[in-house]
Amino acid sequence: MSNRVIIFDTTLRDGEQSPGATMNQQEKIRLAKQLEGMGVDVIEAGFPAASKGDFQAVQAIAAAVKDSQIAGLARAIQPDIDRAWEAIKDAAHPRIHTFIATSPIHMEKKLRKAPDQVVEMAIAAVRHAAQYTANVEFSAEDASRSEPPFLARICAEVIKAGARTINIPDTVGYAQPQEFGELIAYLLEHVPGSEKVVWSVHCHNDLGLAAANTLAALKAGARQAEVTVSGIGERAGNAALEEVIMALRTRQPYFQLETGIRTEQLFPTCRLLSMIIGAPIPPYKAIVGANAFAHESGIHQDGMLKDSRTYEIMTPEAVGRTRTELVLGKHSGRNALGTKCRELGFTLSDEQLGIVFEAIKKLADKKEQIFDEDVEAVVLEEVFRIPDKYRLRNLTVVAGVDPPSAALVLEMDGREIREATFGVGPVDAAFSAINKAVGKSPVLEHYQVNAVTSGTDAQAEVMVRLRMDAHAAVGRGADGDVIKAGAKAYLNALNRLAKKEEERQCVTL
Ligand code: KIV
Ligand code: ZN
Repeated sequence: MSNRVIIFDTTLRDGEQSPGATMNQQEKIRLAKQLEGMGVDVIEAGFPAASKGDFQAVQAIAAAVKDSQIAGLARAIQPDIDRAWEAIKDAAHPRIHTFIATSPIHMEKKLRKAPDQVVEMAIAAVRHAAQYTANVEFSAEDASRSEPPFLARICAEVIKAGARTINIPDTVGYAQPQEFGELIAYLLEHVPGSEKVVWSVHCHNDLGLAAANTLAALKAGARQAEVTVSGIGERAGNAALEEVIMALRTRQPYFQLETGIRTEQLFPTCRLLSMIIGAPIPPYKAIVGANAFAHESGIHQDGMLKDSRTYEIMTPEAVGRTRTELVLGKHSGRNALGTKCRELGFTLSDEQLGIVFEAIKKLADKKEQIFDEDVEAVVLEEVFRIPDKYRLRNLTVVAGVDPPSAALVLEMDGREIREATFGVGPVDAAFSAINKAVGKSPVLEHYQVNAVTSGTDAQAEVMVRLRMDAHAAVGRGADGDVIKAGAKAYLNALNRLAKKEEERQCVTL
C-alpha cells in the first residue's frame, strides 16, 4: 500500500456551505490558485447543478487551475452528472464526484428509497460518470451510520461500475476515532476489489473529532483525506486541512505517511480565506490561531528561551507564520509593490497593480509604514471586490455632537445614490444611511473591530454579520478610518446577501 495521502480540499464546496461563507467567483478562483500552489491534489470546486453561479464558478476554476485535479459534485442522478461534467470537462485533470446516502435513516426518510434501489442508482450514476472520465469518485453519504455489510455491498458494486475513489463520509460527525478506523479496516477487508481503489474519508466536526477521525482512518488504510481550510463547513465544519497535515508531519514516525502539501503555505492560505469570507481566525485555533505559538507563563517562556522544543512541537516557520515586517514606505515604487504582491501570492494584471498602487499611495500619505497585512487588505479591498453591487464612494461622519450624523455617496449597479441621516453614534448613523440608500434593513448580528497592524495609525479591519430573513452573510472592510472600515464591511455583507438572492433557485444537498 502506498504511503502517499491524497489531499482533497472541499473548502469551495462543503466549506462554502458554512453559514455566511459565500464567496464570489473571483474570490473562489483566487483561493483555488492558492490551494494549487500549496500542493493540494484535488480541489472540489463546487456543485455545478446547484445554481448557475456555482456552475460558472466551477467552470472558471477548471480553466484557471492546471496542477490540481478539479472535482465537481453531483447527486447520483444523470442530470447532475451531466452538469458536473459540462463544468469540469476542460480542466487539466477533471474528476466527477457523485454521492448517495446509504444509512437507514437517510434512505428511508430523506430519499424514500429501498436499499436495493439505492444500490441501483449508485451503479447507474457511476457507470454514467465513467463514460465521461475514468476519474470517478463515489461517496456513501452518512456512511458512519450505515450498516457495514450494506456499505460493503454498495462499495463493491460501484467499484465494478468504474469508481476509482470510494469516499466514506462521517456526514453528521457521529463517529469515534477507533470505531471509524475499524470501519475503514472492515471495508478494506470485506469489499471485493478494495485494493483497486483509493479509500477516502470526509469527516464533519459535530463532536470536535473531525481531524481525529480522519487521522484514525488514514492509520487504518485510507489514502485520501477530504478537508477544508480552517475546518469551515456545514454546521460545526469539516476536518481542518492544516490540522490533518501538521499531525501527519509532526508525528511522521507514527503515521509513516506523506502528503504533497507545502506546509509554509498553511498560514497564508488560512489568512486568505479569513479575509475572503470575513471571518477572523480564532486566537486559540490549532496551528494558525494567534496564540498557537504564544507562550504566556513564566515557566514556559523560560523553557522556550533554553530550547524551543521544550514547548513547541513544530516551528512557526514550518506553517508559514514568519512574515517580513516593513515592506513599503511612501516612496516605494510600483515595481517594489508588484514584487511584494507576488511574494504574498497575488498575481495581478498591470491594470490591477495600478489600482492597488494608487490605493497604497493614498494609504502611505496617512500612514508611515505599510506592512504585508496592509497590502493584503488593499488587494482584497480594491481588486477582488470590483464586481460588487454596492460600492462606497464617499462617507462623511460628524461625531462628538448630539446627534451624530452621516452623509454618504454610494454606487449601486453603477448608479450614484446620496443619502444622509442621524444615529445613536457614528457607526449607527453610517449604517442607517446605508440602509436608507439601499432600501433594506438587515439585522446586524455581529460587529467586530481589529487593528490590521500595530500603532495608532494602523488600518482598522471590521467584520460584520448581517441577517435578512433566513439568510445571513459576513462582510469585511479595512480602512485607516474605523467608521469607513465599518461601512465597507457593511456593504460587503450586503453584496454577499445580494449574490445569495440572485442564486436563490439553488437545490439543497
Ligand atoms: O458530508 C458529506 O457526506 C458530504 C458528501 C456530499 C461527500 O459532503
Ligand atoms: Zn460534507
